[in-house]
Amino acid sequence: MIDWLNYRDGTLFAEGVSLRAIAERFGTPTYVYSRSAIAGAFAEFASAAAGRKALICYALKANSNLAVIELLARAGAGFDIVSEGELQRVLAAGGDAGRVVFSGVGKGAGEIRAALRAGVRCFNVESRSELQRLSDIASALGRRAPISLRVNPDVDAGTHPYISTGLRENKFGIAHDEAVDVYRFAAALPGIEIAGIDCHIGSQITEIAPFLAALERLLELIRTLRDAGIRLSHLDLGGGLGISYDAEQPPERRAMLAAIFARIDEDPLARELEILFEFGRSIVGNAGLLLTRVEYLKHNGAKRFAIIDAAMNDLMRPALYDAFHRIVPVTPRNAPDVVYDVVGPVCESGDWIGRDRALAIAEGDLLAVLSAGAYGMAMSSNYNTRPRAAEVLVDGTEPIEIRTRETIESLYALERRLPR
Ligand code: LLP
Repeated sequence: MIDWLNYRDGTLFAEGVSLRAIAERFGTPTYVYSRSAIAGAFAEFASAAAGRKALICYALKANSNLAVIELLARAGAGFDIVSEGELQRVLAAGGDAGRVVFSGVGKGAGEIRAALRAGVRCFNVESRSELQRLSDIASALGRRAPISLRVNPDVDAGTHPYISTGLRENKFGIAHDEAVDVYRFAAALPGIEIAGIDCHIGSQITEIAPFLAALERLLELIRTLRDAGIRLSHLDLGGGLGISYDAEQPPERRAMLAAIFARIDEDPLARELEILFEFGRSIVGNAGLLLTRVEYLKHNGAKRFAIIDAAMNDLMRPALYDAFHRIVPVTPRNAPDVVYDVVGPVCESGDWIGRDRALAIAEGDLLAVLSAGAYGMAMSSNYNTRPRAAEVLVDGTEPIEIRTRETIESLYALERRLPR
């Protein structure tokens, strides 16, 4: 499943680098990514779109380290951002604002100004009020803001409620049956230039059907809009393709795009449009792991705990979504497995990384928490005044430190003692 990981002489290697060596040199917990896995995942999308009018954007929120952005920018990715901070990261990493789409339900006036000045490719707009604000700000700057409306196609992505976004009851997007009216409103605004249509139905979707259902709904709208005299130049289908954490079998990246393009090619209106995607997890999720060390083994009654040096502040997904991440020993022992709850040092019962895991481990052993490249470091915090983990990108036999472990002093450097 994860082809950049392999055991050599009893120790787990990331590409050509031993995880034991990474732990010795950079400490733990440390996020470890594979350069070739990230590049390879993007290349699969890019090759499926080769020769077509298409832009594969990378949704930065999944993992916004500058080196990851730079690697993808060099590979030709566009970017999906949701804040001015993410915009600045793209620019700081050498990315091109002209390949950036700006998503999000609550863009601030300052963020809009910054994005207009930088010259982003498109704003994915989620409400009338946002259109009005965008038009006012763009007009004041003597510009027109390129927009697409994020339409809520009301399809069930069949995923966790926290990461499902395409249903009517979600806060996201504009209801399908109001979209034409809102487009008319947009067309009448002086600071707006209609560029496209957009949707994003959720995340960790493991079937093609919901994407095709959403596409179908957008195709209907595109026809209605054409009849109303509103022409579009692109169609953005968002992100959401799932990965295998455990036993999930999501569609292959190429197969997913092929299915979408096949449907688009049948539609004379859609065929003319540039097709955009905003993939996050499927580009970086299985390209990263969290390397951690077992601090203590203990049991409370019959229950056994492996207390590791990574916690919910490093990887929040289990606590927040009940998410499953495989956990494997870096140097497997020849001993019978024992069932542990793998937990962190944070003072919360919700601070667990894996439950009921059969492992043969001893105190001091290293563990790799797999499939942690997406929404791992990006969602980390300093809860319990824990410095954020280091990040290392492995390139063949070379480990590149792409983020230094935070120092404790830096965690309160912006704070002040009382004046009196
Ligand atoms: N586009 C938009 C507008 C989005 O809101 C998202 C993700 C994406 C693209 C990228 O979706 P992806 O391809 O990564 O599925 N923290 C959660 C996932 C939240 C996703 C939020 N939006 C998790 O750890 O599972």
